[in-house]
Amino acid sequence: MARTGGAIRGWARGGEAGLVILSAGLAGCSAQSPAILAPVSPKGRAEAELFWFILAITAFVFVVVEALLLYAVIRFRARDPQAIPPQIHGNRALEVSWTTVTALGLAVIFAMTWRTMAATSTPPAEAIPVKVIGHQWWWEFQYPTLGITTADELVIPVGRPIRLTVTAADVIHSFWVPQLGGKMDAIPGRENLLWLQADVEGTYYGQCAELCGASHANMRLRVRVVSDSEFQRWVEAQRAPAAQPVEPLAQKGYQVFMSKACVGCHTIDGTPARGKVGPNLTHVGSRTTIAAGLLENTPENLARWLDNPPAVKPGSLMPRLGLTPEEIQALVAYLSSLK
Ligand code: CUA
Repeated sequence: MARTGGAIRGWARGGEAGLVILSAGLAGCSAQSPAILAPVSPKGRAEAELFWFILAITAFVFVVVEALLLYAVIRFRARDPQAIPPQIHGNRALEVSWTTVTALGLAVIFAMTWRTMAATSTPPAEAIPVKVIGHQWWWEFQYPTLGITTADELVIPVGRPIRLTVTAADVIHSFWVPQLGGKMDAIPGRENLLWLQADVEGTYYGQCAELCGASHANMRLRVRVVSDSEFQRWVEAQRAPAAQPVEPLAQKGYQVFMSKACVGCHTIDGTPARGKVGPNLTHVGSRTTIAAGLLENTPENLARWLDNPPAVKPGSLMPRLGLTPEEIQALVAYLSSLK
């Protein structure tokens, strides 16, 4: 009796643990998580349609096979353990027919996959070119025809195709924005082609999809899809050199930036800072996040990041610089002013 009670309690605990895992999994499917089956791009839709088509075929096969299996298990179960079942040797008609039907099913899936790949692999000629460079652990975006370099937030106009040339600076990464369709490996020394287009304005979340070191999971990105006119305004603002610091605190921050290690790794157009190791900070104040999408771009978070980067992003190549609280406040004022 006690044993039964223990077993029930064990089951209950197992069930509780299962519920916790299930709800954690579902929480992962919140608005911020990738949603492959909620596409907002022509390419993403084509991929989702193909997925549902293949799922329908395979689900049909699964149901038929499991039904036949259950039927055979129940209908032909051994009623008399001593009895010997009829001994047969193969059935050519059956074997030929199930091989043929399976081959036909696979041929249909192959043809549909081929068709979708052919229809989605080539970007339209008018696509805006963007070079995507994966770094440990952030994303660099260069717009060669617009003369813009930015990081972690890809800003694109709604309804316009974007031609991405994907590569990496150090190790292999993978560029992936599920709702816009497609995923592309970013490989050092190689340029892979991917294109995307978003039909609805908004912010879409992406994530590095190739294990690339300690902060792989923290290598996020956002695609901000804006109207044509807003995109033009953004382009003009980004092409301008960095704003001159006006407030005394921001001016002090400028001095700190140019006299500390910051200047060696980052570029701020229109200043002596020409470093290429870290993200271009010319308009860092206009971005909605910092640290590869890990933190909202607020003064508090900027201060937290500047104080101890590896505590925010483990393995961060930006080390703890030992800045004083006063220097951090000045840097925050300066960087926030770089709209
Ligand atoms: Cu970059 Cu994972």
